[in-house]
Amino acid sequence: MAQKSFKVAVVGATGAVGNLMVKVLEERSFPVRELTLLASVRSLGKSLPFKGSEHPVYELGEDSFKGIDVALFSAGGSVSKKFAPLAAQAGCVVIDNSSAFRMDPRVPLIVPEVNPDAVSPHPNIIANPNCSTIQMVVALKPIYDAVGIKRIVVTTFQAVSGTGKRAIEELRGQVSDLMHGNEVRREVYPHQIAFNCFPHIGAFLENGYTEEEMKMVYETQKIFNDPGIAVCATTVRVPVYYGHSESVNIETGAPISVDRVRSLLENAPGVRVVDDPAQKHYPVPLAAAGQDDTLVGRIRQDPSVENGLVMWVVADNIRKGAATNAVQIAELLIERNLL
Ligand code: A2P
Repeated sequence: MAQKSFKVAVVGATGAVGNLMVKVLEERSFPVRELTLLASVRSLGKSLPFKGSEHPVYELGEDSFKGIDVALFSAGGSVSKKFAPLAAQAGCVVIDNSSAFRMDPRVPLIVPEVNPDAVSPHPNIIANPNCSTIQMVVALKPIYDAVGIKRIVVTTFQAVSGTGKRAIEELRGQVSDLMHGNEVRREVYPHQIAFNCFPHIGAFLENGYTEEEMKMVYETQKIFNDPGIAVCATTVRVPVYYGHSESVNIETGAPISVDRVRSLLENAPGVRVVDDPAQKHYPVPLAAAGQDDTLVGRIRQDPSVENGLVMWVVADNIRKGAATNAVQIAELLIERNLL
């Protein structure tokens, strides 16, 4: 029997994540019958390659979703808020990379390795979690299943690609400005990002945390379906192009040895253990960039608390943290006959 194939749209196709969504659809041989690329009016006249031919970029509009089976959105929260409900009404299943619907109780928030069963029922919108949350829960899932997790304290070191293509250009431009002795130009970030870092991702909230930090709290609780997990996050922007790194301290519900954790992680889907410090083997963003595994290393006991563990978790934020996870959700829908 011929394999079923689908009419797929990518919204924000000219952006850092959208562009990669197109590549990942091709890499993973997603069964695309027809591909529609959508972006703003600024992108009219552009085209992107897919399976050996150039595909034009169209302007996103209210009628863009007629006859489309599945749309991957990565054009920011305001575009999602306006257009995802229109697409859903037109019968298209939206997989949305923005934060617009993540905390809506009707909308599943899915990491296929972690909570695939939560994918249905859905209101024709499924949310892709925040990049820093995805890689953390992929690494924690086997430990959570084995002994439970009571508390997580995480500090992130996040790449500029998470902010989008303008931020990638800003870091590149600032490095060049500094090399040439020019004044540093700054438009996207609140501080110079070249040779600097700052604990400020998203707006500051009344409780003193940033939006990004609170995403890690609420999304982790939703994905594990466990509002009791305590999470405290500090999120930091660093001058790295691709790949978020995270120092993750956890308190487990019962004792577990480092060897057992290592063996659980070695067998976990989507995880690669890179943990031989004597050989200088531990995860780094340059090794994570361009591939889909979540790399975990520096696994050790945290002797400062009962049942404490620490690890270092690195993944490509625009692949597993965004584009790949979105395509995997679409694959999960096919697997479960939901598309
Ligand atoms: P465009 O390139 O036409 O501006 P990034 O996150 O890398 O900055 O990319 C954002 C993506 O979202 C781009 O593809 C951008 O298109 C798209 N986008 C931004 N605003 C809109 C909008 N109002 N309508 C449609 N697409 C938009």
